[in-house]
Parts: sequence; C-alpha cells; structure tokens
Amino acid sequence: ITVQVNKPGAPIAKTMYGLFFEDINFAADGGLYPELVKNKSFETDDRLLGWKAIRGAAALAVYNVISQQPISATNRNFLRLTAATASPDAGLINEGFRGMGVKQGAEYTFSVYLRRGPGSVSGLNVTLEEPGRAGGPGPETPLSGAVLAQTRIEGLTGEWKKYSVVLKPTATAAKARLKLTLEGAGTLDLDVVSLFPKDTWKNRENGMRPDLVQLLKDMQPGFLRFPGGCIVEGRTLAERYQWKETIGELASRQPLINRWNTEFVHKFTPDYYQSFGLGFYEYFQLSEDIGAEPVPILNVGMACQFNSAELAPVSATRGPSAAEAHSHADDPSLDVFIQDALDLIEFANGPATSPWGAKRVAMGHPAPFNLKYIGIGNEQWGPQYLERYEPFAKAVKARYPAMNIVSSAGPAPDGELFEKASQRLRELKAEVIDEHYYAKPEWFRQNAGRYDNYPTTGSKIFAGEYAAQSVAIGSPDNKNSWDCAISEAAFMTGLERNADKVIMASYAPLFAHVDAWQWTPDMIWFDNLKAYGTPNYYVQKLYGVNRGTTMLPVQRGNNAKNGDDNLFSSAVADDATGEIVVKLVNYSAEARPVTISLAGVKKLGKTGKATVLASPDLNAENSLKEPQKVAPKDETFKVSSSNVAYTLAPHSFTVLRIPGK
Ligand code: AHR
Repeated sequence: ITVQVNKPGAPIAKTMYGLFFEDINFAADGGLYPELVKNKSFETDDRLLGWKAIRGAAALAVYNVISQQPISATNRNFLRLTAATASPDAGLINEGFRGMGVKQGAEYTFSVYLRRGPGSVSGLNVTLEEPGRAGGPGPETPLSGAVLAQTRIEGLTGEWKKYSVVLKPTATAAKARLKLTLEGAGTLDLDVVSLFPKDTWKNRENGMRPDLVQLLKDMQPGFLRFPGGCIVEGRTLAERYQWKETIGELASRQPLINRWNTEFVHKFTPDYYQSFGLGFYEYFQLSEDIGAEPVPILNVGMACQFNSAELAPVSATRGPSAAEAHSHADDPSLDVFIQDALDLIEFANGPATSPWGAKRVAMGHPAPFNLKYIGIGNEQWGPQYLERYEPFAKAVKARYPAMNIVSSAGPAPDGELFEKASQRLRELKAEVIDEHYYAKPEWFRQNAGRYDNYPTTGSKIFAGEYAAQSVAIGSPDNKNSWDCAISEAAFMTGLERNADKVIMASYAPLFAHVDAWQWTPDMIWFDNLKAYGTPNYYVQKLYGVNRGTTMLPVQRGNNAKNGDDNLFSSAVADDATGEIVVKLVNYSAEARPVTISLAGVKKLGKTGKATVLASPDLNAENSLKEPQKVAPKDETFKVSSSNVAYTLAPHSFTVLRIPGK
C-alpha cells in the first residue's frame, strides 16, 4: 500500500463524521431525555396513558374544559383525583418508560402542580417503589413493592401551585414506579407531574441523560442531525414534527403521537408519544455541548411517502395566520413550511431584537447557535418533492444566502427516481444531497467505490442514513454483528477516499431501548440504567476521532483496487498532530502482513500507535452484559523507515497513526 504523503488532497470537512438522531426506539422520551414520568400533563390522546388507578381511589376523572381553570391555556387537561373515603391506597401509579431507572443515593426532583378541591385532603404522599419484590401485584391490586423513597407534600391550597421535593432512593432499581396517594378524603387536582434526575449532562435542570451524551461526545461528532428521520414527516401532515411546538416553557409543550407508535414494526409501542421535553432548543444546546454542527431537518410539505400521499398545496390560496401556523390540525400550504424554516434560522441565529431570536434569548442562550446547515425534507423523492423543494430552497436562499441546504434524493440509491432527483438537485446547485442506504453487509463491501466517479465539483454528498442489515431491512432479527460493523468500516474507507465529494456521513438509527425498540440494528443500546456501544458504534467512533485534516491518496500494488482480496484502505494527514493516519480493513479470516510505503515523507517519528477493532467471530455482538466484547484496543509499533510493516489481525479494522509528514 502506498500513501502519497507528498500529494495531499482536499481538506477533510469538519462535518465529515456525525450523528443522526431520531426519536425512534425510545431515543428521546425514555432515553436521552431523562424525565421519568410518562404523560406528565395528561395531554396525550389517551389522557391516562402511563397512569393506573390503585384500588381505593374512588374516582378518577380528566378534565379538558377551559372553564375548569386548567394551569394554563396551553396545558388544558389535568387530573382530578377523588377519594370518597380516606384510604392509604387512594391514588395512582405512573409506570414510567418501561419502568423508571433510579440509582441509590442519587437525587430526583419530584414536582407537581396541585389544587385542592372539596373535602379534607391534607396532603399528597409521594412514593418511589420497586414493584414485585414483596409479592406480585396485578395492575389493579394494592401495591406491594419495596419502598425506595418516600415523602409527602402538604400546604395545599384552592389555587394551582407548584410544589417541589427531592427523592433519594435507598437502592438502585431499573424498573421502579411512582405512586401518588391522597392523604384524607376529597378531591385534588394534579398536573405536570415530573420526576427528573438531578444528575444530568452539565447538571442542567432540563438536561439529558449523561451516560448517553458522553457516548456521543466521545465520538467527536462533526454534526448532529435532528429530529429525524420519518418523524419529521409524520404518517400524516397533522402528525408532522413542528419545531415551534417544541420550544418555550416545558409545561406548554403539547405531546404528539410518535410516527413509530405503530403496529407495522416488531415491538409494538402503542404508548409512543413525543413529549418535546427534548425540543429544538435542547437539540441546539446538545449540538453545542458535544461540539457538533446542528443540522435540523424540516418538513418540505409532505407526509411520509411510505405511509400516505398527503401533500401541502404548493400555491397558497391564503396566507397562514400565526395561530394556524402553530396548530397541529391545520391544513397548511407550502408557505407555512417555508415560513417555519425562515423562522427557525432566525430562532437559531437572529439577534435578541428579532421576534424568534428573542425567544432563544429568553430560553437562556443570548449567543446565536451559528446554524449553517438546514435540511429540506427527509428521505423524500419524486417530482412532488422537487416541486416543493425548489420554491422552498429559493426562499431560504433569498433571505439567507450563506445557509447550506441539505436536500433529499430518496431512499433507493440505485433507482431511476433517485438518479433523476440527484441530477435535478445538481442542476439547482444544491449544496448537499442526502443519500440513504440500508443494505446487506456485502453491499457495503462491494460499494466502497460508490463515490469514486462522482463529480468533484458542484453538490456534495451527505450519506445521511446507513447501516448494514444482517437479515433484511425492517427485520426484527437484524444484529449489530461484527460482520455488519466491519463491512461499514470497509465502506467508509470509500467515503474517506472521496472526502472531496462526501462531506457528511451518519449511521442510523442512533439509539434503542432494549425493551422498547421498533428498528434494528441501532448504534447504541440502553436500558433504564446502563448503555453500551455496538461494534458499529466503535467503527463510527474510530472514524470520528481519527478524522484528520487532509486527504492523502492511497494506492495498492499490482493495480489492485480498494477492496480486492478483502483489503480496504484509506489515509489522511492530521496537520494538527503531525501524523499520517491510515485506516485498514482486513475482511479475511487470516492475519495479513502489509507494508505501507509513505511516499515523499520528509519527517518520521519512531513509534506509531495502532488502534485495533477485531473479532475472529463475525457474528460477535456487544450487549449490556458484555459491552466490550468487540471494542478497540491500543498498541504501539516501531517505525524504522518510510516502509512501515504491520500485520493486520484476522477480521479487523485498524487505525494506524504514524508520526510523520
Ligand atoms: O432510520 C430509520 C428510518 O429509516 C428513518 O426514520 C427514515 O428516514 C428511514 O427510512
């Protein structure tokens, strides 16, 4: 293998390796967003989703009439709990997201809005307990769980008032639940019931789950794409993602059914809603925290094409009122979608004196988020997409000429519609075209040369969603096997070799809860307490932390092509550290000695560092029990001349960092 150190190519984009985040598989609520109470404001379609009355509670009723004086006009439903007679079990339970994960000695803030009604209710008992330890309770039986923490709230009044107490569990539990019971008989109104860990990323009050953020940050991601994925589109336009609904006061953010709340998938999750506690402000903040460029993807005026043919009319017959633009149930024309995009850019970058910039400032971020990329449409295709994309992109460019627009070419990389869309997008001088591919591992190995013949000028490529599928796309039996991961590593040598054309790439999906997933494979799996990176995670991480700064051409001897004899390679220079970084994939079952000739190298150090990700077993997987079964190992090697000898392990992905330039 010859690395032409003396012929450096284009710079590697800082955005080259990034993250695709979608609220699928409980990635947000129940995952990254650590609120433990499900349906805290009783605003989901099934008002009592996640809640169960305990025997002894005489009556439960949910009111949604404004004349009943809810806590605010934007949070209209609350729960009225009535007990005819005093009973220790007069109350209800919240089940959390497949239980609540709590840690011994950690602090959890319980908060709630309460209003006392008729009767003699003197307080609310708050108990965190682990069900089943002291006998098996059925859903409606009295509780028999082990108490993990307990407190009571008193000082109730006839007016809505927010109460806050701290719970400190005496033991760790992965599937705890929250019990609220009345003290005395009578009526009590409850709303915005929250149990939130104090231990969050940066200890923020509405912060993210720290172990999951850490895994992301460790990858040194160049960008964070959000909020999806199909949830951008929704199954219908009424169910589309509307970013304006996800900012501002938490209690006012109305939940929306998640597009992955569906029977179509293996693990049916009928209880899947988006609370939007993790909303656009938090996504921007998260991007900043992990050093990633924010890449919001907006609806282009089309529902998910796999589900419905719902399209927003292109020519507006009327301008939307502000109320319509905010409503879930409106019938929006394309103008509404375009306006949403323009307002988003103002929200992210505008000054405090601009209407949307002022909202960002009010939420606590006076400095702009410095948004540079905006995606128009997720995985959309065909003439209906282009018809909407063109005026959309034009309007964004007219107002914000420096904004980089990410456009979609659709899900079928080799189809006719895909080719036509890509061609038209290139004619329109689209900055970045988003390509998606979910395919068998062999497809990834066979397509490492996919971008070799793409034009170096004009539109750049965003490999926006990809993952090797061990069985088939949509199969619940897909595994995060080493075979899939090493095949992705092989494919990515092709991305790196074409880093003058491909400027962004992200594996998808990112997260999955072990008890509530709809899609496999996924990069990071977690339960309510722990998380682990898959072999695919480590492949992505090794590319991210070894991104380098400049492309270096790589050739094989005997005119062999990249991937011939199961050997894949790419190289970059890291100008910041003065190293040559070579990535090598040995897909064969035998150890493989290679010589890397550093052509034209002027300065060489003596010791190189190798990071090796390998397993002799292509079916090997990581798990909560064995999170490091396939994980990178570091070693050093001697560099004695410009011909560096190294032996690649069987079935391995190796990154060599050689001091030299
Ligand atoms: O990553 C899962 C889904 O795959 C995304 O939501 C969608 O864009 C694609 O079809």
